[in-house]
Amino acid sequence: MQVQKMHGERLEAALRESFAQQLALCDVLEEIADSLPNALSHQRCLRAAQVIGPLLRSAHQAEEATLFPRILAAHPDGRTVVEQLRLEHLEDECFAEEVQYELQLLGCRQPLLAPEATGYMLRGFFECLRRHVRHEHELMTSLPQAAAR
Ligand SMILES: [Fe+2]
Repeated sequence: MQVQKMHGERLEAALRESFAQQLALCDVLEEIADSLPNALSHQRCLRAAQVIGPLLRSAHQAEEATLFPRILAAHPDGRTVVEQLRLEHLEDECFAEEVQYELQLLGCRQPLLAPEATGYMLRGFFECLRRHVRHEHELMTSLPQAAAR
């Protein structure tokens, strides 16, 4: 029983860490969007371009392993909720590739898009991701811990 409890706590800590990383990425992308076009840090664009794909993929893996089983076990509409979250993960990963591409070009001072269009794209991405993470966080805190086993 104690081992299961510790295991559950570790999984929850991993999940919280993955939420925190996604929200930190959103903050960086917002700072980039706010700094367009004149106060832009090209280094920051290149760093964000490097981490965005791996960060999202590892967050999605953590959620698949820890959050989704709990939703399936404890949420009255679990299958539908998990299907919707998986769809959002796919959409975010596709969108992230576009964002990554533009950040890379920006970092190399060869942007494809006008600054307004880049800002619009970045805001679309991080606002959507923040909403998604907020929803998952609510699910994590509202479902009974016992179902995580
Ligand atoms: Fe997610």
